[in-house]
Amino acid sequence: MMPRIGDQAPDFEAVTTKGKIKFSDYAKDKWVVMFSHPADFTPVCTTEMSGFAIRKDEFTALNTELIGLSIDSIHSHLAWVNNVREKTGVYLDFPIIADLDMKVAKLYGMLQPNESETAAVRAVFFIDPSKKIRLIMYYPLNVGRNMDEILRVLEALQFSDEHKVAIPLNWKKGDKVIVPPPKTLDEMEARLADTTCERTDFYLCKKTI
Ligand code: BEZ
Repeated sequence: MMPRIGDQAPDFEAVTTKGKIKFSDYAKDKWVVMFSHPADFTPVCTTEMSGFAIRKDEFTALNTELIGLSIDSIHSHLAWVNNVREKTGVYLDFPIIADLDMKVAKLYGMLQPNESETAAVRAVFFIDPSKKIRLIMYYPLNVGRNMDEILRVLEALQFSDEHKVAIPLNWKKGDKVIVPPPKTLDEMEARLADTTCERTDFYLCKKTI
């Protein structure tokens, strides 16, 4: 069965462009953003992998390690990384799994046969420091992802955890957040009397943190 939000991230060992890894030992006490791309030396994938590399410092600032994956050989990965650097100056300086036997792609539901039987879809898994899957994105082969959104949801997950609040539509850092709604009549009365938050009604209150 495909992993779902709230599941422990399945463990695996894999060969990557940074050497062998065992996922359960990787990025201890950090968040991990793990993403797949359909194939090396393809145009959309090149823009996406470059996008991760260009904004790697922003992931680092969010205590997050990156890890890519495609169903390609390690030789293909190395040649592509070198080619992208030669042609564009961008260095894909994060591990990219060479998943030739499709083991990890199948384990994570990145191989979706009605889209492609041989190439991983564009998946993004957001995994917290306890190795729990917190958010999953799937994009098809022909549409690239949005790096602003990938960073936004990572920041939103972390902000929600830290402040025990929920995150509204189109939130970005600095915007108001949603105070968890009351669960009892007493809490409802208290919320109705609360003058510290922007209240639409007792169940929809926002505040700045
Ligand atoms: C691309 O990255 O451009 C791509 C990869 C596989 C299928 C279609 C497009």
